[in-house]
Amino acid sequence: FFGFDFSKAANSLEYDDEQEGMKDEIVIKFSHVAAENTPKGRAARKFASLVQERTRGKIKVQIFANGSLYNDQNEYQALLDGHVQMIAPATSKLTKHYPKWQVLDLPFAFPTQKAVQEAYEGKIGNILLNTLDSDHVKGLTFWYNGYKQITNDEKPIILPEDFTRMHFRIMPSPVIKSQFKMLDASTSVLPFNKVYRNLEVQFIDGEENTFSNIYTKKLYRHQKYLTISNHAYLGYVVLMNGKFWNRLSPENKKIINQALKETTEWNHRHSIETNDQQKRYLMKTNALKIHYLTNEEEKRWKEALGPVYHKAAPIVGKKLMNEVDRLQK
Ligand code: LMR
Repeated sequence: FFGFDFSKAANSLEYDDEQEGMKDEIVIKFSHVAAENTPKGRAARKFASLVQERTRGKIKVQIFANGSLYNDQNEYQALLDGHVQMIAPATSKLTKHYPKWQVLDLPFAFPTQKAVQEAYEGKIGNILLNTLDSDHVKGLTFWYNGYKQITNDEKPIILPEDFTRMHFRIMPSPVIKSQFKMLDASTSVLPFNKVYRNLEVQFIDGEENTFSNIYTKKLYRHQKYLTISNHAYLGYVVLMNGKFWNRLSPENKKIINQALKETTEWNHRHSIETNDQQKRYLMKTNALKIHYLTNEEEKRWKEALGPVYHKAAPIVGKKLMNEVDRLQK
C-alpha cells in the first residue's frame, strides 16, 4: 500500500475533514465473527466495494472476518475504543448494554421473512436504533441472516420435553437463556468461535444457529440431530464508532448511507438464498438426522415458551411488545 501506515489508520479518529482531498485516506476497519461465505460476510464485502468505488479509493474498508481481529466478546469494546470503526454483531449481543434489544430474540416473534423485515426496517428497528448512545456508537442498519435451528447430540428433539437436562451454547441474551430454561435445559454463553471446540469436547450437547452458520463453521461435525424449528431469528446490527461517524464529511456520510441501503436490500434477498443453499449442502453431508417440526409440535413449543414473553415484557416495554403482537397477526 505504498508505505501507507495502517497503525495510524487505526487511529483515524484523528482524521481531519480539512485534509480530505489531500493525501489522507480514511480506513474503516470492519471486524466480524462470521465466515466469509455467509450473509454477513458477503454483505460486508459488498459494502466495502461500493464505498471504495464511490469514493475512488479514498475510503478503504478493511474486513476482518472469522473473528480474526476481535471475537464477539471484545469487539464491542474495540469499537468503543476506536480500535476498529465498524462491527456487525448479532442483535442478541447488544442486550447486555441495551436490554430492550431482547425483543428481537423472543421465540416465534417474527413468523415470516416479511415480518422480520418489517421489524428491522420499521418501528421496532427505529425504536431500538434510537436507544443507542449515539455519542459513542452509531447504529446504521440491520442485516439479515436467518432463522435459528437446533442441533444436538444424544436424542432427537421433537417435543419441548426432549430438551430436558441438555446443555446448550447460547449467545448472551436473557431471553435466549430463559427460552432454554423454560425447556428445562441448561446453558453456557460462549463466543461464536469457541462453539465448534465445545461441541467436539462435549462440554455442550447442542446449540442453536442458522443453516449458514451451522454449515460454514462445520458445527454439524460433532452433532447427530438437527431440528428445523425456525424458532427465532438471527440478524445483525451494523454499528460504527460514534466519534468516527460524527467526523466524517456530509458527503462521505451520504455515500456510506447509500452503500448501506443498497447492501441491506441485497443482503435481505441474498440471506434467504444463502441459507437455502447451505441447508441443502448440509443435508448432502448426511451428517445429521433431520426432523422438521410439524405445526402441532410447533404449537407445543409455543405453549412451553409463552412465559418467556411475560418475563421479557416489563424490560422490553409496551411499545415494542405491541409491535411484536401486531407482526404475529
Ligand atoms: C453466533 O454467535 O452464533 C452468531 O451471532 C454468529 C454470527 O455473527 O453470525
